Amino acid sequence: MATSLKAIKFDRNSRSLHVLDQLLIPFQEKYLPIYSISDGYAVIKKMQVRGAPAIAIVGVLSIIVELNYLLKPQGAVVQTYYDIADVENFKNVLIQRIEYLVSSRPTAVNLSNACKDVVQIINHSSTDSPNTLLEEICKYGTKLFDDDLTNNYKIGENGAKFILDNLKQQNYTGPFSVLTICNTGSLATSGHGTALGVVRSLWELSKANKDTEPSTKKSKTNDGSAGDAWLERVFPLETRPYNQGSRLTAFELVYEKIPATLITDNMISFLLDSIANGRVNQPPVKAVIVGADRIAKNGDTANKIGTLQLAKISSLYPGILFLVAAPTTTIDPLCPDGSHIVVEERPADELRKVKGGIRDGDSYKIINIDVAPNEIDVWNPSFDVTGHVLIHGIVTENGVLTKTDGQFSI
Ligand code: MRU
Repeated sequence: MATSLKAIKFDRNSRSLHVLDQLLIPFQEKYLPIYSISDGYAVIKKMQVRGAPAIAIVGVLSIIVELNYLLKPQGAVVQTYYDIADVENFKNVLIQRIEYLVSSRPTAVNLSNACKDVVQIINHSSTDSPNTLLEEICKYGTKLFDDDLTNNYKIGENGAKFILDNLKQQNYTGPFSVLTICNTGSLATSGHGTALGVVRSLWELSKANKDTEPSTKKSKTNDGSAGDAWLERVFPLETRPYNQGSRLTAFELVYEKIPATLITDNMISFLLDSIANGRVNQPPVKAVIVGADRIAKNGDTANKIGTLQLAKISSLYPGILFLVAAPTTTIDPLCPDGSHIVVEERPADELRKVKGGIRDGDSYKIINIDVAPNEIDVWNPSFDVTGHVLIHGIVTENGVLTKTDGQFSI
């Protein structure tokens, strides 16, 4: 399947919005049109678009398309909630619609922060013209989209250099592997990705590093000296129950031709043991790189369910860095620590069934298969919280935050 790996397509002239239906990936590439905040809410809730930065961008762009269709009707059927002749009413209804949008997914802070910014624009705008308000929100939304991409490249570079520097300090030379969970790549963002962006950047640096004669190596580390370690393999976790790792990250890695071996979430310990004792002939895992949905002021981090287990297991193996990679928009300074983070619980059927594709000629038929009795009680938290104690560094677009005396200063 050919794909541009773009989760979000927004035409800035016509202001039309389409999102890639990620429930169909890797089987089918289908973009869904978004005409309203209700459409935005639905695709976020159903996780047709997911990943903290991507849902914030789609959320804000859905506000823009709703207003655009309302104020410049283009034939789309949009339910009208507003009285545009009464500006106060218009603004109040819009704010209520935005509150509804935010309730789609509670854990990732990016959506609620971006929507707070839009509400600020609405409340502080001196204009009486809905059209002018739309222009102001549009300026904010397109900047959010553009900044996310720029910041992801910076995150990628900062994380990759940090890892190579760290290996240099350990006097480690040669190939190494990394582990990652969920999908934090192009599909979860405006492009490149956060944790997977670090993997991409590491791969780019590593390709150059590996293929270059020692005497002519270009500087790869922050201190200006040549790095002698290179990424050779990525281990993405399957990431049950939604399988973002096997469906989306594996797909991105195959697409980018980055050597990768998929493992299930319960294989982490055996993989690390097996590499250490030679049962599996792969380079040692030197870093675990994960994304984040909300980072509390003390560095505690909510991320995809399974991240905590990954952090705990990898902490048993000396020399493995555990890094969180996220834009500063994922930091929530108002949240003192992880105990205050609301963890979304998803429907039981997401655990009782698995979604898969059956080849049907040239295309795929998507089916849900029962993998548990329908009557079984289920607990399905979508995220977990990893304490800052287990995190060595938080990679942002501004650099890598590390701890002093065991504390992050955020
Ligand atoms: O439930 P999801 O797929 O939205 O969860 C995504 C994650 O947990 C990601 O790691 C996080 O949002 C960062 S994406 C750049």
